[in-house]
Amino acid sequence: MKSYIVGNWKMNFTVGEASVYLHKLMQKLRTMREIEVIVAPSFVALQPLSLQLDRKKLRLAAQAGNPHDFGAYTGEVSYTQLRGIVDYGIVGHSERRQLFHETDKDIRAAVAAALRNQIAPILCIGETETEHTFGETKSVLRDQLIGGLSEVSTEDLEKILIAYEPVWAISTTTGTHLAAPDEVSEVIQYLRRTLRETYGEVAAKIPLLYGGSVNPSNAGAYLTIPDVNGLLVGGASLVAEKFISIIDTAKKVKD
Ligand code: 13P
Repeated sequence: MKSYIVGNWKMNFTVGEASVYLHKLMQKLRTMREIEVIVAPSFVALQPLSLQLDRKKLRLAAQAGNPHDFGAYTGEVSYTQLRGIVDYGIVGHSERRQLFHETDKDIRAAVAAALRNQIAPILCIGETETEHTFGETKSVLRDQLIGGLSEVSTEDLEKILIAYEPVWAISTTTGTHLAAPDEVSEVIQYLRRTLRETYGEVAAKIPLLYGGSVNPSNAGAYLTIPDVNGLLVGGASLVAEKFISIIDTAKKVKD
């Protein structure tokens, strides 16, 4: 399976800054068959960046999307409108769940909408600090995973990526601390097992990504966890040198 390195830029960069940054990334990146590099700029930058993009080196993702195709949803952007502009869509990021009250039902609908518009969903799941403390990690993740995928057909399951992001390990969350690779490993094994028990053989084809304060110094430790197929990077993806260093690490781990 390929490795996926995804940079979630969140609400950062003006369109001009995003364009300059993309140019810099494309100059430094080589075409790599075994690593898929993806960046998720904000909505306003997606269209201009899609025209500037060398798809052999890098792909675009949306950070969110509205599951309705069109209609009276002021301020929203649908997957139908994103079709042809992005190849991937981040769905159910913890900031969307917490700050914008997206529910598992919304997320399920977004996964379906992305798929019907030829956009591969990167479904984010993760437990909060409280859930973690109370030992609820596995049951929360199971609900988010099975809840998010419940309307996906067997053939579409192969198009999905899952990102495990413990909310307490995300750099912008207060009281953050790093997730130990051993702990991530246990969760990743649990997710792979749950997918296998629920969906059978196709589970082996679903990339499992880790995210939460990933930086150049810890990327190798997360990428060498068995069954981790990539990283979802926030803060460190905003600095070209750091993001490229993480991509280089992924390449070394693959080689
Ligand atoms: P950080 O890498 O800044 O912790 O963000 C992780 C994240 O939320 C990526 O989606």
